[in-house]
Amino acid sequence: MSLSSICYLNGAYLPLEQAKVSVLDRGFIFGDGVYEVIPAYGGHLFRLQQHLQRLDNSLKAIKLANPLSNVQWQDMLQTLVKKNQDNSNADQSLYLQLTRGVAKRDHSFPKNTPATVFAMSNPLAAADMEKIQAGVNAITLDDIRWRYCNIKTIALLPNILLKQQAIEKHASEAILVREDQVTEGSASNLFIVSDGVIKTPLKSEQLLPGVTRDLIVELAQKNGLSCEETAITEAELLAADEVWLSSSTKEILPVTRLNEQTVGDGRAGPLWRKMIKIYQAYKQELRTGAET
Ligand code: PDD
Repeated sequence: MSLSSICYLNGAYLPLEQAKVSVLDRGFIFGDGVYEVIPAYGGHLFRLQQHLQRLDNSLKAIKLANPLSNVQWQDMLQTLVKKNQDNSNADQSLYLQLTRGVAKRDHSFPKNTPATVFAMSNPLAAADMEKIQAGVNAITLDDIRWRYCNIKTIALLPNILLKQQAIEKHASEAILVREDQVTEGSASNLFIVSDGVIKTPLKSEQLLPGVTRDLIVELAQKNGLSCEETAITEAELLAADEVWLSSSTKEILPVTRLNEQTVGDGRAGPLWRKMIKIYQAYKQELRTGAET
């Protein structure tokens, strides 16, 4: 992130260092807001309609009216991508956030208060395949979050505490387990491979419906790979041949050590290799403008 990058705040485009919100913003006071993270590959927004649909679902769930139409969101985000595009046309990650606006501190919703609308662009580093193939460490932790994990809320304190616990144990991600069912990572969705079948937990209020997750399921099915959305127990996770994490910024990341044990043979597995090729090809088509 560069402080001189251009961001969007309540209708204006300005350098990030000049963007300011009030200390009374309900995002600051209560964490009362929602967000999205949308990659842009070669200037093309990744799965924009799906991200905007999820944003709308999050806004409805927290009873905050969407101040922009999908066309207005698209125009604003596309403008932001253009304003932050360098000569190399490098990939970007767009972050957008809405809060319930600025009002006297009071738990009840304020009346006639416009939402705060903010968006910024961060550089998205090109994937280093060698490093990715080595995989990451993960640990399992009790899913201590609230009951509406399908809402992409900015109130991420439980996720942050879980992630930090993983980091302190030299792991990159915490894989969360609620009553013996695996839900997702602290900032990612989860896939396992058992006996040649790719599996990911069913969508519910216990996990965020990841846009990357949905695309992986879609691409697996299109390419004749066996893929199921199904309940996964902690025992199934620990016995899996492959474990993957997915998110807009991490794409598909193999977990090669889990709770200090090797996953499979300790290297990225064969189905991950197939899937990452398919995923990269999808991204390449998006870069050339053929996919959305
Ligand atoms: N987080 N689950 C959680 C809890 C997440 O925070 C994320 C992504 C995902 C994956 O969703 P998607 O594929 O739509 O990115 C699942 C983003 C990237 C973040 O907070 O930075």
